[in-house]
Amino acid sequence: MANIHSGARYYGAITLPLYDAAVLNVAVPYAWGISLREELALYDHCMGARHLDVGVATGYFLDNALYPAEQKEITLMDLNPNATAYAAKRLSRVNVTEIVGDALEPFPVEGQFDSVGLFHLLHCMPGAISDKEVVFDNTIACLAPGGVCFGASVTPLGLKQNMLAKLILRGSNAKGALNNLRDSHQDLRAAIERRFKTTKIELRGLMTTWQARDPI
Ligand SMILES: C[S@@+](CC[C@H](N)C(=O)[O-])C[C@H]1O[C@@H](n2cnc3c(N)ncnc32)[C@H](O)[C@@H]1O
Repeated sequence: MANIHSGARYYGAITLPLYDAAVLNVAVPYAWGISLREELALYDHCMGARHLDVGVATGYFLDNALYPAEQKEITLMDLNPNATAYAAKRLSRVNVTEIVGDALEPFPVEGQFDSVGLFHLLHCMPGAISDKEVVFDNTIACLAPGGVCFGASVTPLGLKQNMLAKLILRGSNAKGALNNLRDSHQDLRAAIERRFKTTKIELRGLMTTWQARDPI
């Protein structure tokens, strides 16, 4: 685990079982200001027959989303093998493939995907948006014609934050579990719009969500 940056290192035997309760059910609605239902709706809307999920942690969204009728295969990719193993076990009813890989490098996957989910990933990764945006290039390299890249990331820079958000942002950035104090909605929007012709990018509370199609 020595070469895994701290934004991925925290996902282990103790933290993964707590993730849904603490992060998804508390931080997402009460600190970041978006309901889990709204986030899940993106999965319901965007998941295609061949889906790649990058940065899976517990696989909550994949476990709870409505799958399209033509759903065939899900590939789980994460820098931390604890996460892919945890999510794969949870999704044992589905045809899943596990891949350990760094989203900052070309994805070590085979073939093309109808949908690529980048949920709550970028805000964990070190650096500014300019350091992280290569993830979109790596996504485009394996996106099938007509495919969609969708995701969500906490972009707090310049936005009004409640007390809980301030506490979590300060504590988690100090520990390296989050790396997003320099992330702004505008920078993330620009990074997506530079690469895709058709986009739907929204800001809900501190969370930027997107659906992006037709790479330029
Ligand atoms: C906050 S969790 C998000 C989990 C899930 N997508 C969700 O929305 O609930 C971030 C996940 O991204 C992974 N991760 C962090 N940096 C990564 C990187 N550079 N490449 C691939 N995965 C990474 C972490 O190990 C962790 O499983």
